[in-house]
Amino acid sequence: MKFSAAASVLALASSAFGLQLIAKSDQSDLNNVGISSIHEGAAINYFFFGTTATGEDLTYAKSNGTLSDDIGSFTAYFQIEDNIVLLTPGAPYEKYTFSDEGALQLNGSSKGFYAAKNTNDPYSYSTSEYQLLYYPSGDAPSGAVAITLYDKSAVSSSSSSSSSSSSSSAKISSTVSSTKTVSSFSNSTLPAITNYEGGAAGPAAMGSLGVLGAVALALFV
Ligand SMILES: *[C@@H]1O[C@H](CO)[C@@H](O)[C@H](O)[C@H]1NC(C)=O
Ligand SMILES: *[C@@H]1O[C@H](CO)[C@@H](O)[C@H](O)[C@H]1NC(C)=O
Ligand SMILES: *[C@@H]1O[C@H](CO)[C@@H](O)[C@H](O)[C@H]1NC(C)=O
Repeated sequence: MKFSAAASVLALASSAFGLQLIAKSDQSDLNNVGISSIHEGAAINYFFFGTTATGEDLTYAKSNGTLSDDIGSFTAYFQIEDNIVLLTPGAPYEKYTFSDEGALQLNGSSKGFYAAKNTNDPYSYSTSEYQLLYYPSGDAPSGAVAITLYDKSAVSSSSSSSSSSSSSSAKISSTVSSTKTVSSFSNSTLPAITNYEGGAAGPAAMGSLGVLGAVALALFV
């Protein structure tokens, strides 16, 4: 099975192109900031918000609506599982579109994306950084901030929103870059990923996925 080289070649084809996703929101520290994924378990990356308009380079294939990034020798897809937005290999099931304004849409709507801290993610990045979550019915934990994701190239970043003096950017940025080069997925973990039940993510990740809602609620109250 050859997963690797084909992706970069196909990215040059007209139907697929690179983009970065940035958030827009009413909250200044979540406005005009990019999102990047970080290793949170075997073959599972969660997305977090940075402090600048630079995000992870993703590939969008208009023909089939997939958003992906190559990590190690695998193509990982922008997927949603139990309200968590993640980047993971395995057959992609979510299909994305973009509005005329460049807003990322899932199932025809750009609503449902939230930023939240203290989600009990396996590596506890969310104690200090906002994690990207998805609640299409709007039933996000209190304290979660509604955001809209845009194709960065489609929106003006001239908005003078304060990309203020947050000190947290360095940590997350370095984590992201090191993660992207280091965290190649072991192919032995692949079969378990699609159903989440195989234990590929380990007990910590399993637990946090299961109790995310409850924990987040508890912490937000
Ligand atoms: C997975 O690993 C095995 C053993 O290392 C190798 O033979 C096989 O080709 C690998 N499969 C993929 C899809 O890389
Ligand atoms: C989606 O389309 C792109 C571009 O044509 C292709 O490279 C990719 O393999 C497709 N992905 C799936 C899961 O079909
Ligand atoms: C999108 O809609 C399909 C079909 O109704 C549904 O199965 C899927 O769960 C929805 N995706 C999300 C992330 O809610």
